Amino acid sequence: MGKIISVANQKGGVGKTTTVVNVSAYLGSRGFKVLCVDFDPQGNATTGFGVRKKTAKATTYDIITGRAEIRDAIVQTECENVSIVPATDSLAGCEVELASAENRVSRLKMKIADCRDDYDYIFIDCPPALGTTTINALVASDGVIVPMLAEFYALEGLSQLVNTIKIVRTNYNPSLDIFGIVFTMFDGRLNVANQVVEEVKKYFPDKVFETKIPRNVRISEAPSYGKPIMYYDRSSRGAESYELLCHEMLGEPLVVKKRRRGIFSLNKK
Ligand SMILES: Nc1ncnc2c1ncn2[C@@H]1O[C@H](COP(=O)(O)OP(=O)(O)OP(=O)(O)O)[C@@H](O)[C@H]1O
Ligand SMILES: [Mg+2]
Repeated sequence: MGKIISVANQKGGVGKTTTVVNVSAYLGSRGFKVLCVDFDPQGNATTGFGVRKKTAKATTYDIITGRAEIRDAIVQTECENVSIVPATDSLAGCEVELASAENRVSRLKMKIADCRDDYDYIFIDCPPALGTTTINALVASDGVIVPMLAEFYALEGLSQLVNTIKIVRTNYNPSLDIFGIVFTMFDGRLNVANQVVEEVKKYFPDKVFETKIPRNVRISEAPSYGKPIMYYDRSSRGAESYELLCHEMLGEPLVVKKRRRGIFSLNKK
């Protein structure tokens, strides 16, 4: 049975989608079967995998509003072993549409159950908000990965997110765990960055990933080519850091082999 992991933080632009896309791609390349659920109306994970939204037969909106089954919406990406349930801007409508609907926060959970056995990991890319969509993701998940920036205001955001996680635990999903907090776009030369890491470690001693994702221009370029970083520039610091993060998630030693450029290619259909 696949592990379901929400990647969530209500703050925008902290690296949620980047983490989902790159962790999924690496785990897929290692032979794990991975499903990404794009649960953000921006549809960035869909684009990040080079999947054209116009060609989607069904999207997360259709699933959560009961118009389609999850298997109808799954699209194979060009990355080995990675599939995605795409999202389009129609998903924005579900907050209003589901406002008074029955089981409105457990809809994704019910739908994901149909395909859980087909995957080793299911990652849900949450939108930058704590509304019905993110709550649906948390209710459906075994755990949460929280990407965050090492900035002072990020601490306030983290406490709001943790409160929401507690509410979801109490009311819907008692086993929801925080799998880890990962610092993204990290610059260890900044004092404030190191102070924020220490502060977060004080409150969540076992939850902070040792691997920090550095700010790396190759990571920000990759989505415009519809490729995860490992298929765009395998030798970049960004690719190495996401690989290390995956090692840490899998409980493996934190080392990566230095690579020559361009040795991995996409599965062209
Ligand atoms: N380590 C990094 N180095 C450089 N740029 C990065 C890095 N991680 C993410 N970015 C860039 O920062 C921007 C925000 O990242 P991303 O879209 O992953 O954040 P998000 O939390 O999913 O945003 P949103 O809340 O809007 O969904 C993107 O342009 C992305 O390419
Ligand atoms: Mg995003």
